Amino acid sequence: MAVVAKRSRSEWQALDCDHYLHPFTDHKDLREKKSRIITRADGAYIYDADDSEILDGMSGLWCVNVGYGREELVEVAAKQLQELPYYNSFFQCAHPPSIELSRLLQEVSQSQFNKVFFTGSGSESNDTVVRMVRHYWNILGQPDKQIIVSRINAYHGSTMAGASLGGMKPMHRQGGLPIPDIVHIEQPYWFGSDHSLSPDEFGLVMARELEKKIEELGIEKVAASGATYGLEGQIITALRSCALKNSVASGLNTAVCIPSNSNPHTLGEHPRRTKYS
Ligand SMILES: Cc1ncc(COP(=O)(O)O)c(C=O)c1O
Repeated sequence: MAVVAKRSRSEWQALDCDHYLHPFTDHKDLREKKSRIITRADGAYIYDADDSEILDGMSGLWCVNVGYGREELVEVAAKQLQELPYYNSFFQCAHPPSIELSRLLQEVSQSQFNKVFFTGSGSESNDTVVRMVRHYWNILGQPDKQIIVSRINAYHGSTMAGASLGGMKPMHRQGGLPIPDIVHIEQPYWFGSDHSLSPDEFGLVMARELEKKIEELGIEKVAASGATYGLEGQIITALRSCALKNSVASGLNTAVCIPSNSNPHTLGEHPRRTKYS
């Protein structure tokens, strides 16, 4: 049984133009250029409707980290869909796959990560973290500790809190963002600097930006800080000690760190809370 109807490339393109809204896209432009229709994938390759083979250097949207078409994954997914395709975890309910995956993630993570909250996307993860971290300080009796320091040009997703955390002005112009109590400091982007400092020196200056912002706002007001750029080496150490010293949660958003997932530095740091997306 075919999962979807078989159509020609031009039929797909026409239907795409008529009915399918794409993210971050100028649809007038797309109507002229037309979408590349991806019909199948295998290993590290995707294939379009003309059967052109394309190396998927982006791993989907940086999320297909084990490649396409893994038979063992197809089999367990099919089995699970037959056994229990869905249930919620509200109202004192849980189910074995989520419990087992939580346990497994704890086992392969650094020791401070021992509880897991599942979401359906990176944006949703970041929205959840904003709410969780603010609630966390609230129940600890520090309700004023609500501000989250993020970075200019960081990308944290497209939902209201995700786009607010992100430091992209054009996104802020859509929908009255950022939401309250999110502030942005300079991006740790050495390649865009005048190169008068070494990457490590530059990283330390950027880490100091966070410390300065916390001093300016007051420790009692800052709940968390976050970053996305490829942070390495000394900046991580400096951000970690700044977070520890000031008792703020720090989250390194690892949504696009697949190539460096073996690097423990990309896996988030902090005393109390961090997030994976
Ligand atoms: C660093 C980062 N954070 C968050 C997101 C948002 O993830 P999603 O598209 O799953 O909402 C992305 C997506 O590209 C990302 O690159």
